[in-house]
Amino acid sequence: MENEAAIVLAAGQGTRMKSKTAKVLHPIAGQPMVAHVVNSVRGAGLGRVYVVVGHQGESVRQVVNASECVTQSQQLGTGHAVDQCRSHLEGFSGPVLVTYGDTPLFRPETFRKVLDFHRDQQAVAVVITAEVTDPTGYGRIMRQGAKVQRIIEHKDASEAELAIREINTGTYCFDSELLFRYLTAVTPDNAQGEYYLPDVLPLMVADGYPVLPFLLSDASEAAGINDRVQLADAEAVMQRRTAEHWMREGVTIVDPSSVYIEADCRIGMDTVIQPGTCIYAGTEIGTDCSIGPHAVLEGACVGNRCSIGPFAYLRPGTRVGSDCRIGDFVELKNSVVGVNTKIPHHSYIGDADIGSGVNIGCGTITCNYDGQTKHRTVIEDDVFVGSNTSLVAPIRLGRRAYVGAGSTLTDDVPAAALALGRARQVNKKQWVEKHGK
Ligand code: UD1
Ligand code: CA
Repeated sequence: MENEAAIVLAAGQGTRMKSKTAKVLHPIAGQPMVAHVVNSVRGAGLGRVYVVVGHQGESVRQVVNASECVTQSQQLGTGHAVDQCRSHLEGFSGPVLVTYGDTPLFRPETFRKVLDFHRDQQAVAVVITAEVTDPTGYGRIMRQGAKVQRIIEHKDASEAELAIREINTGTYCFDSELLFRYLTAVTPDNAQGEYYLPDVLPLMVADGYPVLPFLLSDASEAAGINDRVQLADAEAVMQRRTAEHWMREGVTIVDPSSVYIEADCRIGMDTVIQPGTCIYAGTEIGTDCSIGPHAVLEGACVGNRCSIGPFAYLRPGTRVGSDCRIGDFVELKNSVVGVNTKIPHHSYIGDADIGSGVNIGCGTITCNYDGQTKHRTVIEDDVFVGSNTSLVAPIRLGRRAYVGAGSTLTDDVPAAALALGRARQVNKKQWVEKHGK
């Protein structure tokens, strides 16, 4: 909705990551964490989304679906970051959701609930809070009864305050006009010398405006990522959620803890994902397939009733038709395979167009690269390729052709022909006796 706005803070470097890459660009389930945040905000139905960028701002801009990216050239704190959006929200009187680019696990439904709560309670500010067992690093919620009084940052907290286990998740819903009015009064008088966004809260409270907590029922949504240990923890939460999603859609995942599935995939009903399988972004799998164990699919497309693996590697640009069998140690790259074709073992198929009903024997290799250019291999319907064959591309095997095992083929094969591309076998009789062995 255009009468609701969001600000996503993503300008920081994230020094605790110890990385050349800005923290918010580190991927979770194959997507930069800030992209998850913006997608969830959009998923909650917010129309105006501003992303505050700074460190590697150009790269951040590329990966987010923002209405506008606003540059914060110096990272003087979360309050200062929000203030960069002041002119963009001039005259806007609706609610503004503020969230951080390093808390990627919020669900769209949660953002929606918070906006509705803010409206229904007529609160000036709502802070999403969570009860966690280890609150290290987070701002602590100082309550007065059912209301929030202020937030103390970990670095500024006393011994007693550090014991508080209700934390600031870094997501808030504000009345936009009041937010910008109070931001002008925030000062950097704290351990980090920063303009803290949560410092607007006690100022609002002092003027009699209610600030309400919205306590999360699922604290795992609040996980903020500051270092690589937290990155892996967030990935684990995301993987569990993704697996649960697909299981609820009718996919069997035999051992969810060993399977990795990125965002932007599709998996059909009654497909079984065997242990150790990785399904990367853009992969589409049909119904009734068996995938794995230990198959890797990178943006590949697989039809219905296929068996892929164990240990198959389907790389980008691969499209496998229905009822195919792609077996162990088979690598497919940028290749199209028709229906009912079998490539059961130990093959490399790159830049190939393979028809239907084809059988590719064990150890077949498409020699697609001449050192300079890649060439295509075309194998028409119902071809039989014997084991241990090298197909030197560009090459075409016509319909129903046969290739003798162990061939190295450099020329096209006409339809229905038998091609033999190897030295004829010689048997030297009584060779053993003649050589006195
Ligand atoms: C912040 C909160 C803390 C909360 C925690 C939740 C403040 C002062 N503290 O702490 O109460 O518990 O998040 O995870 O807000 N950013 C900018 N510009 C800046 C500073 C930060 O864009 O000048 C962005 C960062 O890129 C990051 C986010 O804001 O995505 C949060 O900044 P970070 O420094 O990680 O805040 P925390 O110390 O984690
Ligand atoms: Ca943080």
